[in-house]
Amino acid sequence: MTVDTRRIAARMANLGTESAFEISARARALEAEGRSIVHLQIGEPDFDTPAHVREAAKRALDEGATHYAPFPGIPALREAVAADVTARKGVAADPSQVFITVGGKGVMLYAILGLVDPGDEVLVPDPGYPIYESLTRFVGATPVPIPILMANDFRLDVDELAGLITPRTRVLFLNSPANPTGGVLPRSDIERIAALALEHDLWVVADEIYGRILYDGAEHVSIASLPGMAERTIILDGFSKTFAMTGWRLGYAVVPPSLVQTYGQLVINTISCAPTFVQVGAVEALTGPQDDVDAMVVEFDARRRLIVAGLDDIPGFRCAMPTGAFYAFPSVAGTGLSGAEVAERLLYEAGVCSVPGTAFGGVGTEHIRISYANSREQLTEALVRIRAWVDGLDRG
Ligand SMILES: Cc1ncc(COP(=O)(O)O)c(C=O)c1O
Repeated sequence: MTVDTRRIAARMANLGTESAFEISARARALEAEGRSIVHLQIGEPDFDTPAHVREAAKRALDEGATHYAPFPGIPALREAVAADVTARKGVAADPSQVFITVGGKGVMLYAILGLVDPGDEVLVPDPGYPIYESLTRFVGATPVPIPILMANDFRLDVDELAGLITPRTRVLFLNSPANPTGGVLPRSDIERIAALALEHDLWVVADEIYGRILYDGAEHVSIASLPGMAERTIILDGFSKTFAMTGWRLGYAVVPPSLVQTYGQLVINTISCAPTFVQVGAVEALTGPQDDVDAMVVEFDARRRLIVAGLDDIPGFRCAMPTGAFYAFPSVAGTGLSGAEVAERLLYEAGVCSVPGTAFGGVGTEHIRISYANSREQLTEALVRIRAWVDGLDRG
């Protein structure tokens, strides 16, 4: 028998993906053929990074911030993050607990590598950010989906969650405000979830990357701010969404003191440190004027109203009003097609690019995800195209 010495590792069979990146590539291929596409698939603000942040990073480059940084991050940024987390999230964070990572994604990777063994179970929202599930499988553990339904305002059902916990459960992923639903967990839910984490001795990864993108007076509650929770919670946050800095690739973790050693080793083994001049820019993002962030949220709010009202008015679509992030997650069941069919056909037949609900787990089969991080003109054009396409279905 011949041995295939050029095989790839078996564990690769367990690794999933984030479909939005692949869907974007397909949309770009269609554009290269001359097709007009409205992009509603991308989970990133269309705004430029605030000018004062760009200036700070440029200055840093010219002043020689081109060398390795300390592995957990530059002191000024760790201090700025700790102060921001303490002030905004109500979690008394010390700079020594802060790790600057490449993207918020880095925080996820380290949480799973550092905490999850083969055979463990990890609770993940479904629909939810697909990387939680993908990395869980990658390390030989089992993702256990927590169903999140439109009928429940895109909040998880805490009683149902309690029923999913077993002696093998190690980590609970929470994401509020949520991708892909825009749902925000109210304080009462977070308190009940914290009680479960304490009772069952779980780690919690609190993905708060959309924590400042809130509407209608919605409150962002960090589970780490509740009694007894800071010791068992990893806060995942970053600069991508709040400051329109997706391409800078900068996120951060706030970890309990008991995980400082673990996170440090993982950072040293993977990235050595996040880019130095980028970190200098991020200090300015956190400590400089916040007007651009506020203006972005005001504009997202106007787009949210436009897209949700427009989608909800299309025959066969039903769209709830989200109170966070920049996504709408309409049900398309009334078209008689699945979310995957609608997303596929909207791309090829209507020139509107969205993401099928199934890209976020098995529960959202009748949904598509729409990112409204695009101009009002483009959103209006998308609505016109979707409506015309649905009208065509009726005639067909
Ligand atoms: C819920 C959630 N967490 C984390 C991330 C990762 O963000 P970053 O670009 O900082 O890696 C994303 C990006 O889409 C996200 O939607």
